[in-house]
Amino acid sequence: MIEGVIDKSPRIETERLTLRKWEQRDLDGLAEMNADPLVREFFPQEISYAVSERMLSRMLSKQETDGFCFPVVEDRVSGMFLGFCGLGILDHSVDWPFEGEVEIGWRLISNAWGKGIATEAARFWLGFGFDTQGFGEVVSCTSARNSRSRSVMQRLGMVWDVSEDFDHPQIEEGHPLRRHVIYRLSRDKFAGQNHD
Ligand SMILES: CC(C)(COP(=O)(O)OP(=O)(O)OC[C@H]1O[C@@H](n2cnc3c(N)ncnc32)[C@H](O)[C@@H]1OP(=O)(O)O)[C@@H](O)C(=O)NCCC(=O)NCCS
Repeated sequence: MIEGVIDKSPRIETERLTLRKWEQRDLDGLAEMNADPLVREFFPQEISYAVSERMLSRMLSKQETDGFCFPVVEDRVSGMFLGFCGLGILDHSVDWPFEGEVEIGWRLISNAWGKGIATEAARFWLGFGFDTQGFGEVVSCTSARNSRSRSVMQRLGMVWDVSEDFDHPQIEEGHPLRRHVIYRLSRDKFAGQNHD
């Protein structure tokens, strides 16, 4: 049982990246990324060091129970922390439209943007989720205004259905980031894509 869980987030090397589980030593990299104003443009609040600490501890615990939780992305050659990208299942304390579904999500240090790194890592994890874990569908969600994140979803062939748009339950009415969009990708659609 435990082995089955651990196998859901193997350590992997892609062309340019190492993809791996979270470790306690990732705290400084995570906190630095979360403090970057470019990175948090689409998050409603600042993310302090203490909040990053709690975030890491939640992710460490989720990867123990679920076997995966938005894994770390590192530069394959230098080992530098580049952020996170991959599959996860969020536990929301409030009503959430896709509670319990497998989600794909990403956050990279701003120096790593514009190089196809999120797409490279996400493609690996989608293939792993569909082909190895047998998931039927993967979902992704972002603020409607987050065009960079939406572009990653589109590059991956994910499909947006406007009828699923929703207001984030923890963002107050009138806030520009409140409206959120959901993109989905089925195993069949992924299998029909050209992954060369
Ligand atoms: C969302 C986020 C991960 C997207 O990063 P990104 O670098 O734009 O996305 P990708 O890794 O897919 O890279 C695509 C870009 O790299 C370029 N690129 C360069 N080399 C490439 C390559 N070898 N392969 C693919 N794309 C490449 C693409 O042309 C594209 O450029 P463009 O933005 O000018 O169109 C990043 O902006 C981020 O971390 N934002 C802050 C956190 C956030 O908002 N997360 C989502 C919240 S839900």
